[in-house]
Amino acid sequence: MDRTKFVSERELEYQRECTERVRAMNAGMTAFVDTYGCQQNEADSERMRGMLREMGYTIVDDDKADVVVINSCAVREHAEQRVLGNIGHMVHYKKINPEQKIILAGCMAGEETVRQTVKKSYRQVDALLDTTSFWRLPETLLRLYEQGGRLIEHAEPDSRIAEGLPVVRTVPHKAYVSIMYGCDNFCSYCIVPYVRGRERSRDPGDVVREVRELAADGCHDIMLLGQNVNSYSGGGADFPELLSRCAEVEGDFTLRFMTSHPKDCSHALIDAIAAHPKVERHIHLPVQSGSDEILRRMNRRYTVEQYCELVDYARKKIPGVIFTSDIIVGFPNESDEDFEGTVELVKRVRYDSIFTFIYSKRAGTPAAEMDDPITHEQKVKRFRRLMALQDEITLEDRRPLIGSTVRVHVDGESKSGELNLTARTQEGRLVSLKGDSGLIGTYANVKVTDITTFSLIGELK
Ligand code: 5AD
Ligand code: SF4
Repeated sequence: MDRTKFVSERELEYQRECTERVRAMNAGMTAFVDTYGCQQNEADSERMRGMLREMGYTIVDDDKADVVVINSCAVREHAEQRVLGNIGHMVHYKKINPEQKIILAGCMAGEETVRQTVKKSYRQVDALLDTTSFWRLPETLLRLYEQGGRLIEHAEPDSRIAEGLPVVRTVPHKAYVSIMYGCDNFCSYCIVPYVRGRERSRDPGDVVREVRELAADGCHDIMLLGQNVNSYSGGGADFPELLSRCAEVEGDFTLRFMTSHPKDCSHALIDAIAAHPKVERHIHLPVQSGSDEILRRMNRRYTVEQYCELVDYARKKIPGVIFTSDIIVGFPNESDEDFEGTVELVKRVRYDSIFTFIYSKRAGTPAAEMDDPITHEQKVKRFRRLMALQDEITLEDRRPLIGSTVRVHVDGESKSGELNLTARTQEGRLVSLKGDSGLIGTYANVKVTDITTFSLIGELK
């Protein structure tokens, strides 16, 4: 085993010491972890909540708490503005509770421009904690309490893995298992490789052990996480092998994974999904664009044809498999013809749903230096056209499901209206239904009575 890949036991022991010291001075304080962005951040937040609970904080859902950790997202500018806006409001809470500690964590904390902005204009922020060093949360809080001042100096990304951190899950039947961290792909538009550091994979034994413990605890929904799970490479195992080993763990659960990169998604992976009924019949395979020229400038390293070949192979091997995708419209200098390529691809693949984004310029990435004569209005028009096309496809392809019976896992309560429960099918489709909240965390058979672009509407059988 490569020990240098891991944060050393001595360093983790120091964090435990800091935990005890914060705990000793903690007289009933509260903490709130506010999460933005992707599942990777959700998973990191669960660990930060775990550490905070060990430090004696009561975990609350309130930004007036004694400690507020903002686990931020830097993928698009809009998300950053939202985070900065919320931090702006917090200046009032800090006046009422001057002892409040505000920590900006997550991807934004790894950006130099953000660090400068926070240093000058957001003085209410006490510390920055980037995604590669969030395991230092106990040390950070102890230093803030004991030394005062602000901890916003520059930190190089720490490309190691911290094993064995405590976890507080939001719901007991659903769990994220990070299998790798960071990204080495450097897609030309993306900030992730700069803020999450180099790719590093956990050992397969550690991952399988975690899945086994979760399954034994009755967890029904286990999601393997990584920025690019297909390039997982831990202790000699590749991703298809890891997925198979996890799927062979005993227990009644569904195994999902996020996110796949088409250039590394192999036939072996598709064969592994086909061979293991516990793996969700769904592949989230972000294509980003349907133009080979744009894909080349995005540094994606596959062509539209190669992508479609994968989809065709998966459809042949895994009956009923559904695809979802991420698509960026308005990448610098995307021509009408490039965009039509994306429209054609969406028609050809017929995704179950897509996440569509308007390109957002990220300082420090190669795409930020590219010429971009396309107006924002044009980009918005393309965005709307793609959304309308996908809505049509979603409805057309879901309509035949009306009247059928599907097995679902009831996930939780819905915030809206009469259909008070949410559930998921074996393909990961969202189902809205009416029922007793006691069903949460169990499997049920549901008759599909209607469909929307967002979910299937169901009735308990
Ligand atoms: N602008 C717009 N969308 C982006 N994404 C990543 N970076 C950008 C950007 N600069 C999208 C990609 C990725 C998803 C998580 O976010 O589609 O798959
Ligand atoms: Fe960003 Fe590309 Fe890495 Fe995904 S694979 S995180 S889009 S650089």
